[in-house]
Amino acid sequence: MISKATAPGKIILFGEHFVVHGTRAVVGAINKRVTITSEKNDTAAISISSPLGKATIPITEEIDSVEKKFRPFFFIAKEVISDHNFQNGITIDIQSDIPIGAGLGSSSACCVAAAASVSNLFSKVDASQILDLAIDAERTIFPRTSGADCTVSTLGGIIEYQKESDPKAIKTEHDFDFIVVNSQKMHNTDAVVKRVNKFRDDNADTFSELCTEEDNLITKAIDSLQTFDLETIGKCMSQNQIFLERIGVSNDVLLDIVKTIEKETFGAKLTGAGDGGCVIALTDQSKKDSVVENMSKEYETYPVTIEKTGMQVNITN
Ligand code: PMV
Repeated sequence: MISKATAPGKIILFGEHFVVHGTRAVVGAINKRVTITSEKNDTAAISISSPLGKATIPITEEIDSVEKKFRPFFFIAKEVISDHNFQNGITIDIQSDIPIGAGLGSSSACCVAAAASVSNLFSKVDASQILDLAIDAERTIFPRTSGADCTVSTLGGIIEYQKESDPKAIKTEHDFDFIVVNSQKMHNTDAVVKRVNKFRDDNADTFSELCTEEDNLITKAIDSLQTFDLETIGKCMSQNQIFLERIGVSNDVLLDIVKTIEKETFGAKLTGAGDGGCVIALTDQSKKDSVVENMSKEYETYPVTIEKTGMQVNITN
């Protein structure tokens, strides 16, 4: 039996970092996906093959001693093996077209697809159980995750997300054209989140005001997403970029990309943890190709759309 699951990457449209501190965020799945295939094997090991390398790890190994790039997959396999009292190992193969370390949700899409693929080798599992397992897996490498990335990767579309609340789908009939510009500077989400914690501790009043302003911005942004008011969405994105600059997660390269692309789009901002990674801009469909061409002269640039389909599983015997 082979269990194949796919899950999309994501862009954070509004509210990264603030979401870690309880404010809402708006997150969209994108048309770049990871595909994970798994099958039972007759060894006592979990074998993992990914674009980052290959490993065969005995099931008895402690989670914390497994290399970070393999740890979430090992965690998922070990959990599922133990839940089902299975006596052998599992082989997991990962294929992905989501850039790694760029803030486009590659690791969370991997966690979601792996949780779906491995769980379904044993029994049919519903999306909420898959999501819980995926978030636990992501916490093995990123303990402070808000859970927003795994949630949108599971559900697809655009969602309003707040910790400790059920996610809400933002219903829209329209297709949005975003441009992603990769600064090609790898970022470390955990380190940037820690830095924002320090900023909050040192500037409690400013941070709390920014959280309120971000929340007001999100109300306006959701309204404009639903009415397909591209001008207002773009302005909200540029305003969100300013809030992110105030908490110190932008940098010169990101700012340079934002300023350049803003001239020919509705608005732009960094997406994800910042301090590297990607900038997103909202464009009109008719201008998409020329913006991509112009930005590509200096940076890796690609168009993305919002992916309506979240995690999917397919079992073959
Ligand atoms: O850069 P990414 O894709 O890891 O996104 C991080 C987003 C944060 O809001 C900074 C953290 C989180 O868990 O929501």
